Amino acid sequence: MAAAKIAPSMLSSDFSNLATEAQRMLDCGADWLHMDIMVLNFSSSCSHFVPNLTIGAPVIESLRKHTKAYLDCHLMVTNPLDYVEPFGKAGASGFTFHIEAARENWHELIQKIKAKGMKPGVSLKPGTPIEEVYPLVEGENHVDLVLVMTVEPGFGGQKFMPEMMDKVRKLRQKYPSLDIEVDGGLGPSTIDAAASAGANCIVAGSSVFGAPEPAQVISLMRNRVEG
Ligand code: DX5
Ligand code: ZN
Repeated sequence: MAAAKIAPSMLSSDFSNLATEAQRMLDCGADWLHMDIMVLNFSSSCSHFVPNLTIGAPVIESLRKHTKAYLDCHLMVTNPLDYVEPFGKAGASGFTFHIEAARENWHELIQKIKAKGMKPGVSLKPGTPIEEVYPLVEGENHVDLVLVMTVEPGFGGQKFMPEMMDKVRKLRQKYPSLDIEVDGGLGPSTIDAAASAGANCIVAGSSVFGAPEPAQVISLMRNRVEG
């Protein structure tokens, strides 16, 4: 079984104090720091992504100067290939792209991500069938992680979609040692559904940052994953 990784989503942190917030989460027991990279849609012809704009490579580069932590970057962007070089240089650890934005070039993308020293991951939106990512998990040129979105990408604080757990179950059955990450609406009230379906990497923004004792929420989630 893949090891538990609890990854607070820095989208819910105080961006004006990012380095301090990152260290606070690590001190509370976080394994990874989840960094949400979002770029606003401009036109319907590239309607892959989100109604929000967050951070880019310069912020990752600044944060990297303050921490050795694993920076789990989740790119909700239309052209992920354009971001590989700058994120590699900036010090990203994991580079997770969306299959919806890489149907034509995922093979090349995975190769380039690895060549830049990052761990490739693939994510899918709630409406995308899980079968779409199977080819990316198999073969020699494969991703190390699959991120199953449990909300529509865009914002923190949304409601967990339990029906996404079917995807997690199918993946876990097929790939016993794969890192399977869930993202959106995770916290003490939803962790059991995710953990029993087989997720081992847990992204959590509002439930961790909004808690009076984030360390307790992190350790509760870890215990449920480790079962
Ligand atoms: C949503 C992001 C998530 C989000 C999770 O598009 O990918 O990482 O910040 O936040 P919560 O845990 O508050 O749902
Ligand atoms: Zn995310």
